[in-house]
Amino acid sequence: MSKIMVIGSISTDFVVLTDRRPQVGETVTGNDFQTTFGGKGANQAVASARLGGDVSMVGTVGTDVFGSQLIQNLADNGIVTDNVERVTEKPSGSAHITIADGDNSIVYIPGANNEMTVARIEQLKETLLTAAIVIVQNELPQAVIDEIITFCFENDIKTIYNPAPARVVAAEILEKATYFTPNESEFHQLFPDLTITEGLEKYPNQLILTMGSKGVYFNDGEKEVQIPSYKVVPVDTTGAGDTFNGAFAVALSKGMSVQSSIQFGNLAASLSIQKMGAQGGMPTLEAMKASEDYEKAWDI
Ligand code: RIB
Ligand code: NA
Repeated sequence: MSKIMVIGSISTDFVVLTDRRPQVGETVTGNDFQTTFGGKGANQAVASARLGGDVSMVGTVGTDVFGSQLIQNLADNGIVTDNVERVTEKPSGSAHITIADGDNSIVYIPGANNEMTVARIEQLKETLLTAAIVIVQNELPQAVIDEIITFCFENDIKTIYNPAPARVVAAEILEKATYFTPNESEFHQLFPDLTITEGLEKYPNQLILTMGSKGVYFNDGEKEVQIPSYKVVPVDTTGAGDTFNGAFAVALSKGMSVQSSIQFGNLAASLSIQKMGAQGGMPTLEAMKASEDYEKAWDI
């Protein structure tokens, strides 16, 4: 089976639910607090693995109790964790999430995630060569991402670059990714001088623009295509983009077209947002097949 390698963040999410966010200097009484598994890298790995992907994770956690739980969770989801390293320099990564009115706001503390180095990627190059698809996001140092994308480009390894959270990335790096998958605000940060249509035209079959409830846009080389999202009532949209990316990778790894892979990703994301937690609602392949929106044509 073709291997999916996810290189990225592994974090604990500390999630607070409240009716409204406090103003500066104000205290509000919230409704609930939950500790859940997160980190964009780990989320994407779990999304892929639940859908039957052959997934291994590369990342860094601390030697604290969170680090042990984070690794165990990956293993419980069937992910190979041999290349998840434990470092003493920093605590495990965390994200501090407030959910109010169906929307989230997040403070991300990289911690051990930022201890990933270019030297470590160099040591992993033999392993990288065994991957069919490599997925990266923006919760690692940019130099590490640049190294991975450049190496994969030079060695014909497919990459999915999810440039989230938003930051400026050199165009020459983005262009070396087989696919890059920003959301709308990330797109504008990456390409301040381009309209969406111009961006899609410039990067046909490469820029996969996720627009939440408005669906996903790409250019198939001839025209702009919009793949609508499935209409559901969201409970928690945290990790929707991660679910999309992980599912998109699995579909591509099974030989599905870009368009079908996007549809597959959309369905997985729509199921995931109906439950609490980034990973809480991520569907298995069986759950996908049980959905009335599952396309028989996907046949995976
Ligand atoms: O994409 C969602 C993830 O990003 C959360 O799980 C949290 O870890 C944040 O950093
Ligand atoms: Na969810």
